[in-house]
Amino acid sequence: MCGIVGYAGRRNAQPILLDCLKRLEYRGYDSAGLAIVGDGLEVFKSKGEIAVLEASMPAMKGTVGIAHTRWATQGKPTTENAHPFSDCTGKLAIVHNGIISNFMDVRESLVNDGHKFTSETDTEVFAHLVEAEFKGDLMDAVFNALKRVDGTYAFAVVSEGSGDIVATRRESPLVVGLGDGENFIASDLTALLKYTNRMVYIHDGEVVRVSKDSVTIKNEKGELVTREPQKITWNLEDAEKGGYPHFMLKEIFEQPEAIHDSLLGRVESVDVEPFFAGNIFSSVKIVACGTSYYAGLVGKYIIEELAKIPVTVQISSEYRYSSAPRENPLVVLITQSGETADTLGAAREAKKRGNKTIGIANVVGSAITREVDHVIYTRAGPEIGVAATKTFVTQLVALYLLAMELGIQNKSLTAQARRSMIGSLRNLPRAVQDVLNQAEVIEALASKYAKARDMFFIGRSINYPIALEGALKTKEIAYIHGEGFPAGELKHGPLALLSKDSPVVAIAVKDRTYEKMLGNISEVSARGSPVIAIGYEGDTELARYVDDVIWVREIPPVFSPVPVIVALQLWAYYLAKARGCPIDKPKNIAKTVTVE
Ligand code: G6P
Repeated sequence: MCGIVGYAGRRNAQPILLDCLKRLEYRGYDSAGLAIVGDGLEVFKSKGEIAVLEASMPAMKGTVGIAHTRWATQGKPTTENAHPFSDCTGKLAIVHNGIISNFMDVRESLVNDGHKFTSETDTEVFAHLVEAEFKGDLMDAVFNALKRVDGTYAFAVVSEGSGDIVATRRESPLVVGLGDGENFIASDLTALLKYTNRMVYIHDGEVVRVSKDSVTIKNEKGELVTREPQKITWNLEDAEKGGYPHFMLKEIFEQPEAIHDSLLGRVESVDVEPFFAGNIFSSVKIVACGTSYYAGLVGKYIIEELAKIPVTVQISSEYRYSSAPRENPLVVLITQSGETADTLGAAREAKKRGNKTIGIANVVGSAITREVDHVIYTRAGPEIGVAATKTFVTQLVALYLLAMELGIQNKSLTAQARRSMIGSLRNLPRAVQDVLNQAEVIEALASKYAKARDMFFIGRSINYPIALEGALKTKEIAYIHGEGFPAGELKHGPLALLSKDSPVVAIAVKDRTYEKMLGNISEVSARGSPVIAIGYEGDTELARYVDDVIWVREIPPVFSPVPVIVALQLWAYYLAKARGCPIDKPKNIAKTVTVE
């Protein structure tokens, strides 16, 4: 996830672009840059936040320009990999939000044609493609360049001597803002609200030419499109969080896109094959902290099911001081920030033990990526809310992909089974969207139970760790004492805690433990505790056993943790809202813990 803006008008573009860019900083903040068309075409970019760019940049003169704030997905967060990118002539510059999945092939063919590359990014190929296709009209060149790229994108291009910005999108957002004698483009209308509230949304496949006095949109076939602008009623304050009251809610709602991005170009492989290099791993150890640890616990069930090899999961701070057993597992370190001190220490320990290591991280170039042999990036985009949501779900996606690779490698998974799993993975964004569509229902339910002091979460099999994560979310955001248990363990102790004042959230999807789960729900009801179930749509039997139900779409049980955790994130969020808690910044905890 990155942010792009563009300005074509009569005023000096530089301060306007910087101002708009700052409102997009939530989309990425590892490097930033801008390109201004004045007497020539000037590009300036730097590593770090927009404030760093602002402090170091020279005054640039010109009334047309584009700018970018980056969240690295391909290529480390360095000045060389920052946008905008120029072509070989330096006469055009582009910015991009998205991922070009076939960039390796395109790059190779462009290099063969003599193009010189200066970065490791996927984006740079587009600058050279537009250069190669340019025959005098920038819009035509963009249309032709698009024929050679796959993936998701919002691009904006400017060229020397022209007052136009040409922009296009596919699955990444792009809006045009209409002013008086000036027009804008941006990833998010919130960036433009200070300047205009008249917006035109660009649709997938369309290309738009924006100058100070005109906006021309063409569809994929090159036909002119007329679209009425929409008047936006948001104020600037709404804009900071894209209209959501909290970053956490915004990030929960970004999950369909985050899953989609994390799968892009990867369903056939997460590039671990060269890393495996013929090694067959007979066991896996997953090491992580907090929410990432719970993702690891789900990963144990996923890998054991798909690859049929034993997996152990350990908290980083425990692993690093434990004694080394004789086995030689593949060690997988999960950390969204890539900076958690305990997990970094664990990575070093794994290396010392001579184990091969894989990191699953969200932040490109973070410290963990230097400690492990191979990295699988989740592509959740920046997560600002302290409670991890979209990074957890994309960690699960990475674990599904890794498990499939391990399964294929050791022949536990057939190509046909893998194909069917890929189909299920591709359906996950829809299953998540179904849950998001029920936000109001979940809010009403949460308000009903928000006064509880204690709340228990039960699940079995792959949804047992989801019960733990649901309890953690409830603890950290709503300040309710939440505890998760494997449902079969209730009778060995926790039943003693139950009363009518302690609601129990029971995950009861139709898997091989379903009947047992119904039995456990009956044990709970018999103690007078209200039960809120999460189950598969249309399960009338479950509805008879419980007080309330949150429904999720029926999908193969191994994938059920994804929609179920989204329901629990909303549950925790609305409990916290009803209790008036400071949702994005819960007391006593930090997003990234860099001390032991
Ligand atoms: C902190 C955060 C948790 C997070 C954990 C691990 O405790 O509050 O939300 O799960 O660190 O973070 P990591 O960046 O390593 O995934």
